[in-house]
Amino acid sequence: MAPRYLRHTPRRTPRKFFYLLLLIFVPACIFGLFIDYRKVTYFLRPLWDTPPAPFTWLPHYYAENVSMDHLCRLHGWSVRATPRRIFDAIIFSNEIDLLDIRWHELYPYVTKFVIIEANTTFTGISKPLYFASNRNRFAFADEKIVHYVFPGTTRRGDSHADPFKFERMQRAAMDDLLRQAGISNGDVLIMADTDEIPRPQTLKLLQWCGGIPSKLHFEMKHYLYSFEFPMDSIWKTASNIYGPNTRYMHSRQTDDLLSDAGWHCSFCFRHIEEFVFKMGAYSHAERVRRRDFLDYRRIQRLICHGDDLFDMLPEEFTFKDLIRKMGSIPKSASAINLPAYLIKNADKFRYLLPGGCIRETGSSSNFPKESSYSDPSVF
Ligand SMILES: *[C@@H]1O[C@H](CO)[C@@H](O)[C@H](O)[C@H]1NC(C)=O
Ligand SMILES: *[C@@H]1O[C@H](CO)[C@@H](O)[C@H](O)[C@H]1NC(C)=O
Repeated sequence: MAPRYLRHTPRRTPRKFFYLLLLIFVPACIFGLFIDYRKVTYFLRPLWDTPPAPFTWLPHYYAENVSMDHLCRLHGWSVRATPRRIFDAIIFSNEIDLLDIRWHELYPYVTKFVIIEANTTFTGISKPLYFASNRNRFAFADEKIVHYVFPGTTRRGDSHADPFKFERMQRAAMDDLLRQAGISNGDVLIMADTDEIPRPQTLKLLQWCGGIPSKLHFEMKHYLYSFEFPMDSIWKTASNIYGPNTRYMHSRQTDDLLSDAGWHCSFCFRHIEEFVFKMGAYSHAERVRRRDFLDYRRIQRLICHGDDLFDMLPEEFTFKDLIRKMGSIPKSASAINLPAYLIKNADKFRYLLPGGCIRETGSSSNFPKESSYSDPSVF
């Protein structure tokens, strides 16, 4: 017969284990929910959220000096006798350097750059007109620019109670502005945020190939803070062949996704002040939960480590992906296949390239100090 302690083990351990679990796990959960309800919700996303319907990935071909005729045919399209006109339409916030890179990169292919900027943020905070006040930087594209200032209001409790409504109103204003800019049926309309830069080669395809899909999403490599921190990819940018029913939007329009068609650099700012501004102005301003989130040294440290500014978990739909993407983003030393204007002006844009994580602060910038944006409602 086995000694007493062995005989009893099988019966006792599960119960002990259960109490231990109860004692540690339950308070931990309650405590976790109490201090960070949002994080727990994000961690459990695979249980409550469903991923978007899958895309049909269209192959995308390009190599230097290959003829347009050959490229169009590789995509299953024909080549046109005349190019389509392209309208690049963005709702601008404060990404002035990325706008510079974007417009230089796309200049040869775009007929009109249509840009709306509001004098308030989505959350109803008064905001300087960053584009208008830096207009001299864009003199190179002057004859192609169609600019409109969207009148915001700083009154709270009306339309700005819902930042997404403000966004919808700006998109409707964009539809009018596009017509004023002279867009007509059959032209290509690019709908993107400033920091979503299509590849020039992709625009050239849309310009010269016949039989392209009337709606197309662009797969873009997603970077955070600079091109040193590549993450996954996003699909938000879309092109439309303009028609009577075309509406400016930034949501899912079709299943067709053209692979590797650009760069999305989010929070890619030169000055710490711009991070602070963006964090307050973000559609998800409720993410700025604690005042120390806006501390300059903290922001600088997180940028250099590739850590999340909002201390949030990635939005993933399986635990496998979630755990894989938790923590800092690994650095990349590659600056291959980035926008040509960025590489040609590497000295000017050092902070966007590998090894350049240190940002500027202080009076040299156009950006007002943090206190100008303090909005009690976001804390
Ligand atoms: C592309 O064509 C240009 C002009 O014909 C030539 O100078 C250049 O060497 C070519 N580049 C490649 C990669 O073949
Ligand atoms: C924004 O512009 C509109 C129209 O010009 C003006 O009435 C409004 O006062 C401005 N708002 C701010 C916060 O500057």
